[in-house]
Amino acid sequence: MSQSHSDALVFFGATGDLAYKKIFPALQSMVKRGTLNVPVIGVAKAGWNLDQFKARAQDSLEKHGGLDPDAWAKMSALLQYVDGDYVDPSTFVAVRKALGSSERPAHYLAIPPSLFEEVVEQLVKSGSAKGARMIVEKPFGHDLASAQELNRILLSAFPESSIFRIDHYLAKGPVHNMVSFRFSNAFLEPIWNRDYVETVQITMAEDFGVQGRGAFYDQTGAIRDVIQNHIFQVMCNLAMECPARGDAESMRDEKVKVLKAIPPIQSKDLARGQFRGYLDEKGVAPNSKVETFACLKLEINSWRWDGVPFYIRAGKNLPVTCMEVMARFRKPPHTNITEPNTAQNYMRFRISPEMTVAMSVSVADELGGGREAVELIASRHPSPEEMEAYERVLTDAIAGDATLFARQDYVEEAWRIVDPVLKEDTPVYVYEPHTWGPPEAGRNIVPCCGWDTPLAQEPDDFRVVARG
Ligand code: BG6
Repeated sequence: MSQSHSDALVFFGATGDLAYKKIFPALQSMVKRGTLNVPVIGVAKAGWNLDQFKARAQDSLEKHGGLDPDAWAKMSALLQYVDGDYVDPSTFVAVRKALGSSERPAHYLAIPPSLFEEVVEQLVKSGSAKGARMIVEKPFGHDLASAQELNRILLSAFPESSIFRIDHYLAKGPVHNMVSFRFSNAFLEPIWNRDYVETVQITMAEDFGVQGRGAFYDQTGAIRDVIQNHIFQVMCNLAMECPARGDAESMRDEKVKVLKAIPPIQSKDLARGQFRGYLDEKGVAPNSKVETFACLKLEINSWRWDGVPFYIRAGKNLPVTCMEVMARFRKPPHTNITEPNTAQNYMRFRISPEMTVAMSVSVADELGGGREAVELIASRHPSPEEMEAYERVLTDAIAGDATLFARQDYVEEAWRIVDPVLKEDTPVYVYEPHTWGPPEAGRNIVPCCGWDTPLAQEPDDFRVVARG
């Protein structure tokens, strides 16, 4: 794979919401850190000129994290803008002209996948595809067939090593940290398997609704929006074997192996919910059956994990906002000196809002007559100096490091697992906002020791466990 640095960034969808909320702030941080000093060419159909585009960027920075006058002055000098329709070849002639002497541009598609084919074709025709990289936003397809079609379109013009499929969860420090934590601590790996682990739960909870994205969300739902991508990536980091080398392909090979060992989810192992009030959201169909909550059970049929159920739960308008993993170990054997109801040990990884690694242990209580479970907890808030996920993905893509991007076989395997059940008409139960989903979800799909109840915020200290 070529690791050369891209010499320009062309950014399709530059007047959109994602650009406003995430991309401009990421670009400013890159300029501050010294990782961006190539032309940035925004492309969109908004009827704007360069000054209007710069005003939008400036406004974005003021609203999202703050404008740094020095960095903004440098970033502003890098910005160019091409206004035009993606179906009009003259737009791409203008892009090629704006690229000037660039030989290795990175084209970033923050546009609906329905436009990919046209854009790729026009990039080729205008001479902008040669030596280029493609950075592609999620969602990568709507199901297995559409993902395969997108791959066909991209691979018709670019080699896989030049395609960077974004899943910004991969670029979150705590997600990546799970891999290094597992393989840098000698105590964990010997017990991180079916002999010791009884169940694994992954919860991605958000205490807000669809935030004005009703039209997008109603085409998507929780399974496509976050489970098939963000949560599966977290699961792979938890479940994969230690890669033979630290390079992008070795890491990605191990993740794909995890997915290959997972059979398609069956409808009996899935429950879907919709928060009361969703149907009143702008852009949502009046009788929509799209899920804003899903919980499911799956199995990884590998030597390490066979027989260990993985429970996944994600939703909007739940009681808290956080992502948390809970792996419960099997009960210790009942002997003359263990209490019959000794709590099971567990490992807990919290990915957001704090980064936490916690382990529960059973210790003598204060009176010495019994035992209680406490958590040994290492937790910290992200430092302001840490890279935000979007800064990390753009930095890595421009530098040509594909480790934190989804490979073709990975995305297709991920779709294979959810595709059949997405096509079945499984029921959608209503739940009250700020509850843990519909009561019906708890009937079949519930871990043997119950669902973990993540807290809104981590305490700062060691603590006595009072968790479900
Ligand atoms: C996006 C989803 O990919 O991830 C959103 O479309 C979700 O629905 C978001 O809220 C969560 O990402 P983060 O980084 O805010 O936790």
